[in-house]
Parts: sequence; structure tokens; C-alpha cells
Amino acid sequence: MILVTGGAGYIGSHCVLSLLKKGIDVVVFDNLSTGHIETIETLKKFGNLKFYQGDLLNTDEIDKVFENKIDAVIHFAALSQVAESMKNPQKYYINNVIGTINLLDTMIKNNVKKIVFSSTAATYGEPKYTPIDENHPQNPINPYGKTKLMIENIMDDYNKAYDLKSVRLRYFNVIGADKDINIGEWHNPETHLVPNILKSTFENSKTFEIYGQDYNTKDGTCVRDYINIEDLIDAHILALEYLNKNNETNFFNLGTNGGNTVWEIFKVCEKITEKEIDVKQMPRREGDPAILIANNEKAKKILNWQPKNNLEYSIKNAYIWEKLLQERMKNA
Ligand SMILES: NC(=O)c1ccc[n+]([C@@H]2O[C@H](COP(=O)([O-])OP(=O)(O)OC[C@H]3O[C@@H](n4cnc5c(N)ncnc54)[C@H](O)[C@@H]3O)[C@@H](O)[C@H]2O)c1
Repeated sequence: MILVTGGAGYIGSHCVLSLLKKGIDVVVFDNLSTGHIETIETLKKFGNLKFYQGDLLNTDEIDKVFENKIDAVIHFAALSQVAESMKNPQKYYINNVIGTINLLDTMIKNNVKKIVFSSTAATYGEPKYTPIDENHPQNPINPYGKTKLMIENIMDDYNKAYDLKSVRLRYFNVIGADKDINIGEWHNPETHLVPNILKSTFENSKTFEIYGQDYNTKDGTCVRDYINIEDLIDAHILALEYLNKNNETNFFNLGTNGGNTVWEIFKVCEKITEKEIDVKQMPRREGDPAILIANNEKAKKILNWQPKNNLEYSIKNAYIWEKLLQERMKNA
């Protein structure tokens, strides 16, 4: 049985779906702070899923989950809004760092020594070169990224002292929804580009703001590496296999080795939604690097991972999901 923390959230729920479809039993631990009980209800249709509503800051609640026979943990649970982390760093350090320490300590107490962890490109900070490989210095520029780097460092020390093996996956920009659109991205507030552009098409006379048109990129807007959610989840399954086979700590970038400008994303969204979206050009935002692209060679070589889905496919699925979500909200 695999324990998935944060399994009621966007990425965690897609991982749970994939595990269940493979016939693997799953236990989800989530405090529903940003996740959704409706997502858990949907997932229960796909296999043997136990859900525990609990908080990583409450060790008694974590203890209860380990009454199940857990083989490994996939740890998605975290707060992940960069701007909020700058306004309220305490909340982030407590939730993400202390929450993870509680989880790791309970794992060790129960002799569970394998974990796949959601890290982020934000641990690299301002890029010194691009595409960014795993040897790029990690120098995060916001509390959110710092919490993820602290956790990576803690995992290294726990490996040396307690033999805890981790695979840390550093995601770039995750987009899309499951291919059958049972679940999708559902953040409130939404801070990510693609769902926000798609959401704007459901609001009359909504103007979409684009920050910075004078970057040194092909059309002046920022370039980001957009990785499809199903491809991203494939890498988690391979990471679990890697841990089982090699019993070794490692870390990998998950991105496409390519990127798209904000304008390009915008144009694909207009094509898929068949709507014209009003745009307001705004000045640059502080802390937004011009280009963030992953060098993904290490994951390809060592995990035998290959991202397969293109941008249009991801945005098409995200749009179908967004339509369903808008309907759900209207009828709620
Ligand atoms: N979405 C992205 O593009 C992206 C990029 C890089 C890294 N990540 C990381 O991936 C992970 C998942 O991101 P997401 O977009 O699915 O976020 P999400 O907010 O949709 O999911 C996070 C889940 O964790 C749960 N949670 C948070 N704190 C908890 C706690 N203390 N105890 C129990 N449950 C808790 C929430 O209720 C939620 O269901 C996060 O760790 C995030 O930092 C996401």
C-alpha cells in the first residue's frame, strides 16, 4: 500500500488515480486545506482507496495512517503559493518543513524508509544558465522555494543517519488534466497561468494581465517549461520503481527541455477555447526570471522517463476540465 500525502490536491490526485488504475492500494492523508473531498469521492471509484482527513502538524493523526501496512510514501502535501509565502513565511515554514519532519519521523518509527517528494524548480532561484540541470546551484529566492530546499537537505541528513531513501522530483510548470477528465487542476485562488487564462474566458469582459513584455526572449514575454500532468505522474511511478530496485537517494528535474512564452500559451488558449481574450500589458513582476527551462536528461537516462504529451493536448484537457468545474460551481 502506498501512502499519498496531499492526494486530494491537483497533482496528488492524478498520482492516486494512476496508482489505483495499476491495481495498487492507496491511502491518502490530506487536511483538505487546499484539496477537495469531491476529488476523493471521484477517486474512490477507481480502486481500493482509504482516505484519512488529517494534518501533518498533528502527529497523532499521522500515526493512525501507519496502522496500515505502508510500503512507501509519495509526499505532495504542502502549501505552494509563492506570493503568500512572502507575506506569511511562518505559515510556510511550519506547514511544509515541520509537517514533513513529522511525516519522516513517523515513517522511520514504523520502519518505512522510501519516499518520493514533490520538490520544485523554485529551489534553483534565479537561473545562472538555462536549461537548468540538477547540478545548478540551489539558491531559492522566496520562502516557498526555501521550504522545499530545506526538506531536500533534511532528507539527505535522514538518509545518512536513519537510512531513509528519497527521490526528489523538481517540477517545472505542471499543466493539464487526466485524459478522461475525471479530475483536473482545482486551486482556489488559482495562481497558475494556464488555468487563469482559461478561467478568464468564462467571465464576461474579463481582461487578462500579462506581466513584462521587454524580456530578452523571442516575443519579450517570459518563457516557462510546461510539463503535462500525466507525464509528470509517470515519473513518480518510475521513481517508486527506482527506490524499490536501487534503494538509493536521488533527485531529478521534471520538465520538457523546452519552453513557451506567455504569448504562445495565450495563443494556444485562444485557439482551443475559440475565444478572443482581452489582454492588458503590465510591467514586469519582481522575482520573475526571463527563462526557466529544465534540462531533463537525468530523468530520461536514469528513470527511463520520456514526456510524451504536447502543449495543445494539455491545454485542451485543462479546458474541458475547466468547463466541468465552472458547471459544478454554478450548480453548487
Ligand atoms: N502545481 C505545480 O505546478 C507545482 C510545481 C512545483 C511543485 N509543486 C508541488 O507539488 C505538490 C502538489 O502541488 P499541487 O499543485 O497539487 O497543490 P494542491 O494545493 O492542489 O495540493 C496540496 C495538497 O496538500 C494538502 N495539504 C497541505 N498542507 C497539508 C498538511 N499540513 N497536512 C495534510 N495535508 C496538507 C492540501 O489540502 C492539498 O490537497 C506541492 O508540494 C507543490 O509544492 C507543484
